[in-house]
Amino acid sequence: MNEHDSEKVAGVLLARGYRQVETPESASLILYNTCSIREKAAQKLFSRLGVYRDLLGGEQKIGVLGCVAQQEGEAIFARAPWVSLVCGSASYRNLPQLLAQLEAGEERVSGLGIDTDETFETEVTRRDNPWRAYITIIEGCDKACAYCVVPFTRGPERSRDSARILAELRKLAELGYSEVQFLGQTVNSYADPSPRKMRFSELLLEAAQVPGIRRVRFTTSHPRDFTPDIVAAIDAHPGICNHVHLPVQSGSTRVLRAMQRTYSRDEYLEKIAMIRGARRRTAITTDIIVGFPGESEAEFDETLSLLDVVKYDGVFSFKYSPRPNTPATAMPDAIPEEEKSRRLSLLQEKQRRIQIESLRGLAGNIFEVHVDGKSKKENHWHGHSSCNRVVNFASTQDDILGRYVAVRVNGCTPNSLLGEHTSN
Ligand code: 5AD
Ligand code: SF4
Repeated sequence: MNEHDSEKVAGVLLARGYRQVETPESASLILYNTCSIREKAAQKLFSRLGVYRDLLGGEQKIGVLGCVAQQEGEAIFARAPWVSLVCGSASYRNLPQLLAQLEAGEERVSGLGIDTDETFETEVTRRDNPWRAYITIIEGCDKACAYCVVPFTRGPERSRDSARILAELRKLAELGYSEVQFLGQTVNSYADPSPRKMRFSELLLEAAQVPGIRRVRFTTSHPRDFTPDIVAAIDAHPGICNHVHLPVQSGSTRVLRAMQRTYSRDEYLEKIAMIRGARRRTAITTDIIVGFPGESEAEFDETLSLLDVVKYDGVFSFKYSPRPNTPATAMPDAIPEEEKSRRLSLLQEKQRRIQIESLRGLAGNIFEVHVDGKSKKENHWHGHSSCNRVVNFASTQDDILGRYVAVRVNGCTPNSLLGEHTSN
């Protein structure tokens, strides 16, 4: 989502006649986009701003965007007086106006409002990948997970009008994009504000029918709003990717309650059973936090056992890190850093073994691969399957970039499949 914000901001600048340059030194305006979901994001920002100050010699204008800008606000001007623009992620729709003020000679401009009920729509978006385009369908978050800074930095949930989403998608298809990824912090909580009141699953189905669109992805899904009609949509249309990213965060119901995740371990497992019940074999990936305040050894073991039960196709795991304003920072029984690291490596080692085993089991299968790059090794390419697995494969054809090809799997690495291009 953060990367896509950068693409949209670049689009706003291009539309105003700016041009992108290769190095910070040759730029007259530098915008630094930030993320504050974990770790010491503010510290990182100020050390980076120091580097820019020393590197650039005061000629260029520097702006700070994103969640750290939202969080630190005008304090950034005080600590780094060489910064001219501060704009939080909930105020990007005001960027053109802020840029105009800057161009008119104002020294310092900021956009830090949070209670916007509008979304950030741009006429032009500069997209980094020529085949896969992102479309934000819902911004912000109304959930209140105890550890998470997103509701504070991105503001409340706002869904975009379904007709505008589909119009943008048709335009992208005409430009040659064949794969779209719908984005949202809780993408499946989508609530169409237009009179049409399309459900999320209906939007997926309609998107998959747009001529030229071969694949529709979506991320991130919240377990509470993951309903059977989404699984039915995946089954109903091969263009809807058979991959669901469904963050669980913890395998312990007690910890889930403390995290305010709104579901128990068993309720989460019911959602998994629903997805596993689909006719199409659907890949499931997740996010997990270890070392949430008060997480006991036994509760951590419940997270480990969840990995055995679900057998995820991929896990993004993080050590809990306290975020400003969030209720979890005030919770007792913080877990020491070394203990968090120990739990994280245990979890990652376990998942690595599970993953290799399931990838090995895929030998002999044929996957449709969207080719997104050539490897250094001659006659070797890489791409993604519909279920979002990375596939490295050999092919003697040399014009397959951006195309969809059939690949027969003949091996794997811990994180990818190996195979060869086949004609059947
Ligand atoms: N500490 C650690 N991980 C976090 N995440 C969100 N907030 C925190 C935090 N304070 C993780 C969650 C989320 C992912 C995007 O980042 O697992 O799903
Ligand atoms: Fe954060 Fe929870 Fe919202 Fe996800 S659902 S963005 S973890 S508050």
